[in-house]
Amino acid sequence: MAQSIGIVTGGGDCPGLNAVIRAVTKAANRRGWDAIGVYGGFEGLLEPRRLKVLSIHDLDGLLTRGGTVLGTANRGQFCAKTGHGELRALPKELLDATAASCRDLGIVGLVSIGGDGTLAIAQQLYNHGIPIVGVPKTIDNDVIGTDTTFGFDSAVACATDALDRLHSTAESHSRVMVLEVMGRYAGWIAASCGLSGGADVILIPEIPFTYESVCQKIAERESHGRHFTIVVVAEGARVAGGEFVTSTGQESNREARLGGVGNMVAAELQTRTGKEARCVVLGHLQRGGSPTCIDRALCTMFGTAAVELIAQGQLGRMVSYTGAKISSVSLEEVGKGIRTVPPDAGLVQTARAIGICFGD
Ligand code: F6P
Repeated sequence: MAQSIGIVTGGGDCPGLNAVIRAVTKAANRRGWDAIGVYGGFEGLLEPRRLKVLSIHDLDGLLTRGGTVLGTANRGQFCAKTGHGELRALPKELLDATAASCRDLGIVGLVSIGGDGTLAIAQQLYNHGIPIVGVPKTIDNDVIGTDTTFGFDSAVACATDALDRLHSTAESHSRVMVLEVMGRYAGWIAASCGLSGGADVILIPEIPFTYESVCQKIAERESHGRHFTIVVVAEGARVAGGEFVTSTGQESNREARLGGVGNMVAAELQTRTGKEARCVVLGHLQRGGSPTCIDRALCTMFGTAAVELIAQGQLGRMVSYTGAKISSVSLEEVGKGIRTVPPDAGLVQTARAIGICFGD
């Protein structure tokens, strides 16, 4: 049987997934391996009709195309994280069936492209004897063991564009404009777009906020003749001593859905300051569309490095970008949690140095 590399995309989609699929397939083919696309997340491994050897023609246009042509899933029987990130052990029968399928397909390495949830699945599959390597994907940028994940730069570019647009309307109407961005329990997107988009206030999960502090910032701006204020709120931001804001309809086989804090903040700021406040929830716009040039290059480096890891027999590892170099880290290390914004990070210090308020 021909030896092959499997490619699976898991978790929420993001710009650059297709660019990784392209790079892995090209690099695998150059080594004489087939690349098998697994459709619909890990579940696809259990259904022959959801497996396909990718040809060079399948790669047309993938470098720039958003989303994942393989499809993905962030819930279901392969879900390894639930609630607010609690680890879940996959059932033994599921692991056995997956291992048998990989053996039957002649898979020498399964390239698992995903965020912390998908990489937690990958670690369990590896511990069960499945040859696997990981590629860190997520707009949230919260994967341990890498300085950056792909998709993050594209999401920040989108959020920055949104802030640029909000500036002119906020100023015209002398309003407080609140932009809620994604990121789950990490404030990387909020802090980064807040800095590049010139926000006045940035609220992130790592720094609990008070309304007094934010109102003080608005008052200070008013006193300087600045009658509008731009606030960026990460979906995981919380009032000091408060809970995460989640949407209704939580499901048991997936992680909690954060969201709603932006509208809460806007309403409270309007009540407290008497200024009109509006909220824009950026939502899935920041996850769609074409990857930035930084992400395209990163995805190509990650994809080829993943094939290289398999060729060297370095399984159970994730490719990473650390200290401006491509390297790798064990999935075990990656599985230790998530990477959040250190409250004293350079990003935060820089923002504070120009007067941006973090609500503390
Ligand atoms: O992890 C990526 C992410 O976009 C988070 O920032 C967000 O909380 C979540 O996925 C949204 O998931 P869904 O697309 O299932 O609503």
